[in-house]
Amino acid sequence: MSTDFGLPGRVAIVTGAARGLGAATAQLFARFGAHVVACDIDGEALEKSAAGFEGEGHLALAFDLSVPENCESLVARTLERHNRLDILVNVAGIIERLQLDEVDEAAWTRTMDANVKSQFFLCRAAAEPMKAAGWGRIVNFTSQAAHSGGFYGTSVYAVSKGGVVSLTKNFARLLGPHNITVNAIAPALVDTRMISEGMSADEIASVTGAMPMGRMAEAGEIAMAVAFLASDSAATITGHTLDINGGLLMR
Ligand SMILES: NC(=O)c1ccc[n+]([C@@H]2O[C@H](COP(=O)([O-])OP(=O)(O)OC[C@H]3O[C@@H](n4cnc5c(N)ncnc54)[C@H](O)[C@@H]3O)[C@@H](O)[C@H]2O)c1
Repeated sequence: MSTDFGLPGRVAIVTGAARGLGAATAQLFARFGAHVVACDIDGEALEKSAAGFEGEGHLALAFDLSVPENCESLVARTLERHNRLDILVNVAGIIERLQLDEVDEAAWTRTMDANVKSQFFLCRAAAEPMKAAGWGRIVNFTSQAAHSGGFYGTSVYAVSKGGVVSLTKNFARLLGPHNITVNAIAPALVDTRMISEGMSADEIASVTGAMPMGRMAEAGEIAMAVAFLASDSAATITGHTLDINGGLLMR
């Protein structure tokens, strides 16, 4: 595809950029000419991932984003470097497969902090420079688990991803008047380590078998949808959760 989605020169924070969907999104944004501020808790893997970005002006910052002060520091470091922030893509997240009786408070807190608290505090911090500029795009990662309730020991994960849908609507409502859109992407199965290490081949086949498209998505396919939502063309799409699920659920 020849379009660059108007990304050249845009400053974009992409979290979870060490691997999987975050890495694919950061790579695509860099290829389209954005200045990427890539963040992940895994600093070593992040350095390797960022070393492959095309173009210039990128930054790789290791932070644990389940700590609100770190979310604020990530935005502050971005502003120090670029003096602006146009796009925030909240990809970082975890999944812990636990049966109900295995869920303790620590497990609940880990997942809610990494998946929802991080996105809330990053959206809030990112909104300030976007409001000042009168333009901004935020894309949050939720999951089909938000709609299905989750399978295969993903109760807390499903609750956290339901929270992402709600916070997306909340920020869309608050930030729309400032010309900032806030949307979410809800993948079903994407071929990343989260799936290859977390699900058996039979479990994967049972889900893809129920999809009209009959297969997992590739991370690069999802990244293209992020780029569209981050573009000027998506100027009046906000508060929306985009299902990218091979037709698994049609609503
Ligand atoms: N892969 C799928 O099928 C799928 C489906 C639905 C939703 N998702 C969502 O997409 C997002 C990315 O998934 P993925 O498959 O690329 O996962 P992944 O496990 O391959 O990558 C997640 C990245 O987030 C980082 N991360 C985790 N906790 C962090 C923290 N506290 N601070 C900073 N970075 C942190 C990890 O180090 C890792 O690099 C997640 O939010 C996930 O819930 C994925």
